[in-house]
Amino acid sequence: MSTFTLRPAAPSDGAFLADMVVEAANWRQGATRPRPDVLADPVSRGYIAGWQRPADRGVVAVDDGGRPVGAAWYRLFSVEQRAHGFVATGVPELIIGVRPLWRAQGVGRSLLQGLADAARSAGFARLTLSVEHGNFAGVLYRSEGFAVVETVGGRDTMVRTLA
Ligand SMILES: CC(C)(COP(=O)(O)OP(=O)(O)OC[C@H]1O[C@@H](n2cnc3c(N)ncnc32)[C@H](O)[C@@H]1OP(=O)(O)O)[C@@H](O)C(=O)NCCC(=O)NCCS
Repeated sequence: MSTFTLRPAAPSDGAFLADMVVEAANWRQGATRPRPDVLADPVSRGYIAGWQRPADRGVVAVDDGGRPVGAAWYRLFSVEQRAHGFVATGVPELIIGVRPLWRAQGVGRSLLQGLADAARSAGFARLTLSVEHGNFAGVLYRSEGFAVVETVGGRDTMVRTLA
């Protein structure tokens, strides 16, 4: 089995995080939405624009050569520029993606746990996210303590309390 380690996300990770936004938008089997198309969407762009702002935190999984293979990160949104999983100001929203060849090897779960630790250390009480119906990632989120708080237009907003 391939090995990976986690490190904190840095300002120079912006392009890789954009790759992961594209992966997340193309989660469906056979989906091939082009990168420029995904990143032209204001909500998708909102997950990475201006990375890394002062309150932004993330974790990046790297292979044994230091190459990024997945990332999870969070940022704060305003009511006016809300993303899909917005619940309230002051509740950071996370997004996650893992390169296809690295999926189903524990990277995603490890990233979620690392990001929850980072959010807790930063003093946040909750984390929120949005997942489309049919994406198995919803099962992973549930097993990591996220619960559905709202369902709108084929998407669940899920929140985890960081005890
Ligand atoms: C969702 C995603 C981040 C999960 O990362 P991952 O590294 O594949 O996840 P893990 O290997 O940690 O697996 C977590 C659990 O999901 C299960 N799982 C993994 N791939 C699966 C699949 N294709 N179908 C069903 N379950 C799957 C694993 O068995 C594991 O469960 P277990 O710990 O009980 O064995 C990753 O698959 C991905 O990037 N998908 C495309 C982008 C996306 O959907 N992002 C989220 C948008 S909300």
